[in-house]
Amino acid sequence: MSAWNDKLEFLKSIRKDWCNSDYIEFLIQKVWRIEKPVNVVDFGCGYGYLCDLLMPLLPKGSTYTGIDNSEKLLEAAREHLEKYEFNVKLINADLREYVPVEKYDLAVCNAVLRHIPNPKEILKKMIDSVIENGMIACFEVDRPIEEAGLFCSAIDNYSLGQAEYYRKICEYEYNNGGRDYRTGIKIPQFMQELGLNNVGIRMNDSVKFVSPTMEEYEEKRKIFAQSKGYYEVLENAEGVSPLVSVLTKEEQEQFFENQRKIASTVVCGNGYLIQAPCVLISYGWK
Ligand SMILES: C[S@@+](CC[C@H](N)C(=O)[O-])C[C@H]1O[C@@H](n2cnc3c(N)ncnc32)[C@H](O)[C@@H]1O
Repeated sequence: MSAWNDKLEFLKSIRKDWCNSDYIEFLIQKVWRIEKPVNVVDFGCGYGYLCDLLMPLLPKGSTYTGIDNSEKLLEAAREHLEKYEFNVKLINADLREYVPVEKYDLAVCNAVLRHIPNPKEILKKMIDSVIENGMIACFEVDRPIEEAGLFCSAIDNYSLGQAEYYRKICEYEYNNGGRDYRTGIKIPQFMQELGLNNVGIRMNDSVKFVSPTMEEYEEKRKIFAQSKGYYEVLENAEGVSPLVSVLTKEEQEQFFENQRKIASTVVCGNGYLIQAPCVLISYGWK
């Protein structure tokens, strides 16, 4: 059973202000110069975030196919994407086993490659999924940049030093055959090594901004806290980071204390919340 099955609410909250669509429109029209309808395949589509983001901006006649192995997220996608008039197809498949057969014009993914060990293999499958001259675009954050991009006015989260603990945890996971949280920043290199042409990398300019002066402050703060997993931290800090055992006993205590401090400040405090997810967008042509 997919570990993502119960993550629908988390995904919806984290995608709030994740990317500015005016910037994506700029990429489509001025950088990628997509002028004709394209058949799009979305690797690890979840509930269909990239469908919402890209499809209204692509030329009329474009189609969308999403691949994922979470039955629950696919179920949500089926319901969520029903409103669209263009052709939508959803495929239930494990990307690690998936063998591309059908060819598309554009293969995309968002926040997927850093969650699967050996992301280069999945990227290779994306390349195998497109026609000659087809395009690949991967949206992915780099964990240290994402970490540095968080500011909570009610607590000096930066000086608590969580970034170093996360670095140790992520390094351990990567060195033991797990995910690589720095995948986002390595993708252009992988693309080049896999033979793509005109490889480039951009960064979406969206920055999440939650101000106590906003009328919808409570709602926005709740969504923000949900997207950072802060409610789970308050319910059960130790359940949130299973790999925390790579830290020394003292570090673990400090790590959990910091987590609880930040989480309770965001959940119960009344300060400003600003986060630059810095979504890196790497692209290239076959
Ligand atoms: C962080 S979510 C991103 C979902 C979506 N792209 C979005 O932007 O909201 C990661 C997605 O990758 C999918 N995924 C992870 N490992 C997978 C695998 N081995 N095969 C297929 N899908 C996978 C998950 O089910 C989940 O939908």
